[in-house]
Parts: sequence; C-alpha cells; structure tokens
Amino acid sequence: MINEQQSGKMWSGRFREPLDAEFENWQRSIGFDWRLLDEEIAASKAHASALRAAKILTNDETTELRAALDAIAAEHASQAGKALVRDHATAEDIHHFVELKLVERVGSLGLKLHTGRSRNEQIATDLRLYVREQISLVQNALAAWANALVEQARAAGDSVMPSYTHLQRAEPVLVAHWLLAYVEMILRDAARLGDCSARLNFCPLGSGAVAGATLALDRTIAARELGFTAPTANSIDATSDRDFILEYLQTLTFVGLHLSRFAEEITLFATAEFGFITLPEAFSTGSSAMPQKKNPDLTELIRAKVGRIHGAAEAVTLQLKGLPLAYNKDLQETQEQAFSVSFVPRMLSLVARFITALQFNRERMSEAAQSGCLNAMAAATYLVHKGVPFRTAHEKIGHAVRYAIENGVELDALTLDELRQFGEEFEDDFFAAVTLTATLDCHNVTGGTARVRVKEALAATLKKIDALIQEVAHAGS
Ligand code: ARG
Repeated sequence: MINEQQSGKMWSGRFREPLDAEFENWQRSIGFDWRLLDEEIAASKAHASALRAAKILTNDETTELRAALDAIAAEHASQAGKALVRDHATAEDIHHFVELKLVERVGSLGLKLHTGRSRNEQIATDLRLYVREQISLVQNALAAWANALVEQARAAGDSVMPSYTHLQRAEPVLVAHWLLAYVEMILRDAARLGDCSARLNFCPLGSGAVAGATLALDRTIAARELGFTAPTANSIDATSDRDFILEYLQTLTFVGLHLSRFAEEITLFATAEFGFITLPEAFSTGSSAMPQKKNPDLTELIRAKVGRIHGAAEAVTLQLKGLPLAYNKDLQETQEQAFSVSFVPRMLSLVARFITALQFNRERMSEAAQSGCLNAMAAATYLVHKGVPFRTAHEKIGHAVRYAIENGVELDALTLDELRQFGEEFEDDFFAAVTLTATLDCHNVTGGTARVRVKEALAATLKKIDALIQEVAHAGS
C-alpha cells in the first residue's frame, strides 16, 4: 500500500500502484509554476489568517506558519527558480513544493494549512495575483514608452515630415504629431490593461475544489489581505475561470500590434531611401560580410517577437474552448502561455531607450514634406475661400499640379499668370496660403496638425501619462 509518507504525494491515499515514472514527470508543473512562489506564499499566508478566524488554527500556530512561509520566500528570493526545482525534484507543483518546505520547517503543523482549501482555488488565486502584477509592470513600461515619445515630440519642435496614406506622400505634418499618434495607441492599451486588472481582481480563495470551502471561512479576510476587491461570486466559475489570462493576452496583442507598426515605420524610415532616421549605433548591429552595414535588429526583432503574444492568446483560446466545468488539468497548460509573455515589459523599456537615442534627420524630413505638391489640399482650400466649390477647386488644383509636375516645379513656383490658366480666382495672396506653415496651420481643428493644436495636444498628453502613472502606483499600493 502506497501512502503519503512513502510516495511524498498530496493525494496517494486511494492509490495501490505507483505512477509510471515518465508520466509522473510529464504531468508535473513545478518546472514552470515555480514562478508563482511569491504568489503561493502570499495566498497561503492569507489562508492561514482565514483559518485562524475560523478557529482551525490558534494564534500561535498561525504566527508560526506565517513566519515559516516568509522564511521559505526569503530562502528562495536569491535563488534562480531552476535551483528551486532541483531542490525538490519530488514536488508535483508549487503548492506541493511549499507544503513540503513547510513540513521541513514546522513538522506536521505544515499539513494543517491545507485545511479547507484545494489546489484548484490556490492556482486560480496565484495566477490572478501573477497577472495583476504583470499588468502593472506592462503599464509602467508603456508609460516609459509614451514618455520617450513625448520627449522626442517636444524636442522636434516645429519640424515637419510628410504624412502618408497608401504609403504615398499625403500632407505635411509636424513630426510631433506623428509621434503623438503612437502615444494615443499606448494610452488606449494601458487603459485596456487597467480594465482587465479591475475585472480579475476578485479572490478565489474559499471556493474549495469546486463547490466552496467545507469550512465556514470568512472569505473577505484573505481577499482583503491580498488586495482583492472582494471574494469571487461563484465557486464553480472561480476554480475553472482563466478568462483573465486570455483577456490579458488578448489585450497584449494590441500592444504587440502597436509595437510592430512602430517598429516597421522606424525600420522603413531608417532606410537610405527614406533617410529620415539615423539608427543609434548602441542599438544596431553590423554585418559579418558587408562592412558598410548598420542593421536595425532591434525593430526587426520586435516585429517578430510580437508573434509570440498572438500565439499565446491563440493557444489559450484553444485550451479553454469546449472545456467542461469546473477544474480540468487542461487549465495547467494556460500557465505557460501567461509566463511566455513575461518578456514584454523588458522589451518595452528597451524600446523607450531606443527612442530616446533616435536621431531624426530634420532637413531630409522637411525636404520630403515640401516636395511633390503636398500643399495641394491647402491650395484647393484657398480656392474654397474664394467661393469656389471644393469639387471644382480640386479639379483646378489637379490641373495645376499636373502642369507643375510636367515642368518639374512645386505649386508655389508657378507664376500668377500660369496659375490663372486654371482659374481666374487665383490672386497674389495664393502664395501666402500655400507656404509650409500655412499648409500646417490650416488644419486648425482639435486633433489636427496646426502648430497651436499640436502644442495643446502635447500638454494634454503629458497630463494623461501622469494620470496613468498615478493610477498604476495607486493600484500597486
Ligand atoms: N498544477 C495544477 C494546475 O496548474 C494545480 C491544480 C491541481 N489540481 C488538481 N485537481 N490536480 O492546474
């Protein structure tokens, strides 16, 4: 007869035969869930408090258990997780591991902690704590990315570049306007993550294996200690729910999309063909074959690495699809997907430092913004102010553009006589209406690229980033 002492397992009482060694090793999660050690310790301490309130543990026992749990955390704080796994090759998962360590320290008192709880609620709790922490790391890193963009926007002043539609030059815009477009995306991502964090912030402890704890525990005790808003409402849902992992990953796919769009634009703008950006040497690599090369590996790797985020979201979708209630071992697989995106905060802070080091070639950007008749919209608007219907103005300026292209000049290089071939409304004031600054400033609407609007936007954006930083700090306190 195999028993707990012989097998070292948490569930061996009803088993006659030992497990197949290969199967045993294959189904264990300690190889990856060691990452949840801090969360497991925090949740276990909170459960001890709930057991004391329920009079299952005495005050002294509770104090001893909580101190032992702290000591386990401290013992492992300095070790890499792998060492932890090697130490306890027999542990099935992080819950088992902590129990083994507890028994080592406090003897059979350690076995009392599992009273009134199940690993099903423990893993659900640990993962919620883990994702909540990851979200605040990502939000902080997003704020750093946004700050770096805002700093460059501020430094760019009134410098200009072409905007593009269809990747064809469209209208001149302020460089700051282009940079702030990314900040808008980032702020939306941070807000989505905040929503996700608020939605997951309920405590599964007390849900038991599926039907609720078998002791009348005051569930608010653990919930409060762990910083959750309240206990979860339904034990079946609480033990089987991994929506929060999926939501976190799906939300990160937006971050990934925005990173990849940014990375692609930087890669493109750093080509000789564009020449808008000089890549910082500290963030570029050379070629072993071609001595002249300086390659944008950072943005290329980002473009590719975001594929992992999308892959993880897809994997969890498929892991959860069609799963019957409540806990199933399938759920163990979702953990590794959550862990697989832990590279995101570091990647974001790298992006932030990369942006700070970027050099914009203002002259080249400005030249590009002033060639190819990018003031044609402003020119048509000039005619509109002279009373010409826009459709007709568009046609007349179209003819003027064709004439300018054929003659290899810009619209403002045409003489008044030449312009009058296309419409008698052209007057001397035309030239002032199509200068670079006039072309920018005619977009004087909220969200437009007029210089005064971008200055306003810069100030408003700074406030939004400050609010984000405070929200994250508040959530973490
Ligand atoms: N390692 C397991 C997981 O991640 C913990 C829960 C185990 N529960 C069980 N009923 N076997 O899902």
